[in-house]
Amino acid sequence: MRKLVIANWKMHPKSPRDAARLAHFVGRELKKVRNVEVVLAPPFLYIPIVLGVIKRDAGLKIAAQDTFYENGGAYTGEISPLQLKASGARFVIVGHSERRALGETDEVVNKKIKAVLESGMRAVLCVGEKEKERDVVFPKIIREELHEGLRKIKKSLLKNLVIAYEPIWAIGTGRPDTPKDVYEMTVLIRRELYRMFGKKIAKRVPILYGGSVTFRNAAEFVEKGAVDGLLVGGASLNPKSFVKIIKEVSTI
Ligand code: PGA
Repeated sequence: MRKLVIANWKMHPKSPRDAARLAHFVGRELKKVRNVEVVLAPPFLYIPIVLGVIKRDAGLKIAAQDTFYENGGAYTGEISPLQLKASGARFVIVGHSERRALGETDEVVNKKIKAVLESGMRAVLCVGEKEKERDVVFPKIIREELHEGLRKIKKSLLKNLVIAYEPIWAIGTGRPDTPKDVYEMTVLIRRELYRMFGKKIAKRVPILYGGSVTFRNAAEFVEKGAVDGLLVGGASLNPKSFVKIIKEVSTI
């Protein structure tokens, strides 16, 4: 499986010009990287700008950080999966813990996952526990987020699913999980997917790690944590750091 690295820019940078500059640097530096799928997730507003900048850098793709679940209608302020797809997004992050903290429920996450997969884009379902447990056990919350988030979704759509394991305590704290614990959690998530959907799907759904990833720990997570890629927040806003992360991952 080709490794997948997603840059979650969150509510950054401050201006369209800065967004273009960041995308330009990343696109230029990564032109030759072939064995890593690199995805940039800018704020909605910057999607067309970033796309315009990276168009020539064949490898790069765009993710949205969220979506609404309806494809049309009177929903002031919302953005539909169809609009995102038509604007060039290929991935949508769904159920990020920062959105859940603002009140997004499993039910809404489920509707969004369904809408994204039905649109033909790839859905990145984020799951993660609030506090680190002393021993590696499979946290109840992760099981629930998987079962609720993927409830009643057609098996045939799951080829476009990605899971991002992001322990909340590791996000933006500078305290990443250990590759060893990430490895065990990845095994547990895959085992749960196996129980839910069978071997074929469990084997092919990529599992990413996210939470204080830097160029110093990126390779280790992929190598020893056995994840299929990374979801990078803070470090993706520093173009040099982000490029280093991709180059590290590409050596594995
Ligand atoms: P971080 O964020 O890399 O800044 O910890 C990760 C995320 O929220 O996706």
